[in-house]
Amino acid sequence: MNYNAVNNIDELETWVKKALKIKKKPLKNKKLGKNKTLGLLFFNSSLRTRLSTQKAALNLGMNVMVMNFTNEGWTLEFEEGTVMNSGASEHIKEAAAVVSQYCDVIAIRAFAGLVDKEKDNAEIVLSSFIQYATVPIINMESATGHPLQALADAITIEEFKPKHRAKVVLTWAPHPKALPQAVANSFVEMMKLQKNMDFVITHPKGYELNPEITKDSKIEYDQDKAFENADFIYAKNWSNYNDYGQITNSDPNWTVTADKMKLTNDAKFMHCLPVRRNMIVSDEVIDGPNSIVIEQANNRTFAAQLVLQKILKK
Ligand code: CP
Repeated sequence: MNYNAVNNIDELETWVKKALKIKKKPLKNKKLGKNKTLGLLFFNSSLRTRLSTQKAALNLGMNVMVMNFTNEGWTLEFEEGTVMNSGASEHIKEAAAVVSQYCDVIAIRAFAGLVDKEKDNAEIVLSSFIQYATVPIINMESATGHPLQALADAITIEEFKPKHRAKVVLTWAPHPKALPQAVANSFVEMMKLQKNMDFVITHPKGYELNPEITKDSKIEYDQDKAFENADFIYAKNWSNYNDYGQITNSDPNWTVTADKMKLTNDAKFMHCLPVRRNMIVSDEVIDGPNSIVIEQANNRTFAAQLVLQKILKK
């Protein structure tokens, strides 16, 4: 069993219930992972994903090995049949097979390059590990998705949802650096699995996400209108998907401020973190009583632990 995309979740409601059960007693399955090793491979930086996935594995009694490919591993070659006469020292075929000798489960973080849309959509790093490793693979944020984050988001929404049918809004917000679409993509995919919730995406015109992902979702270009009656505001920046990887808008009017939050139904504020304060969200909002970003980050552990448990039980 791999967990590389939100569509690996067969029944979101059941998964969320199980994760909340784990949260109550995180050490209940302390023996499940005994003598099993999780390898965490990072091609990009991380705080939450690294520590929460490691914590989840430790809660299950697993051993954990971490490797940063950015500065520690050999540069990998992913092309088939290449004459390896330039930068790359090792082919993914050997690397994935070798890591599989040491690890019972491999988790990988490899972001979008944001230069070549086709290449990013092909998920070269993640899909090559899936192809050449001989053990289960977990996606810790790939070029197009962040399914562990989306599962943690679902757990958080369940914990804070109102009694009435909830309205959830995903809003784009400005950022000085070009960011991938992965978190937003997985959030949209996760929201499609939610029953009895209304979901709206709001962003400036031109900032449409991959239409294959958003095809059944409501898009509202007027942020103020989208915020009306919202119970959850999930802020996230992503770079332009059409003008691929470019920043074509940095309008500060899209920052989530206290005035914007007043348009909502006393909404909870969510963000996957790390967040640029007073770019994405004002200090007042993120430091305010309706901000649930820390609990959201806490839930990363239980999302990862659920996925690891499922893999270990198989
Ligand atoms: N939200 C998230 O994935 O955080 P990190 O990039 O710090 O792991």
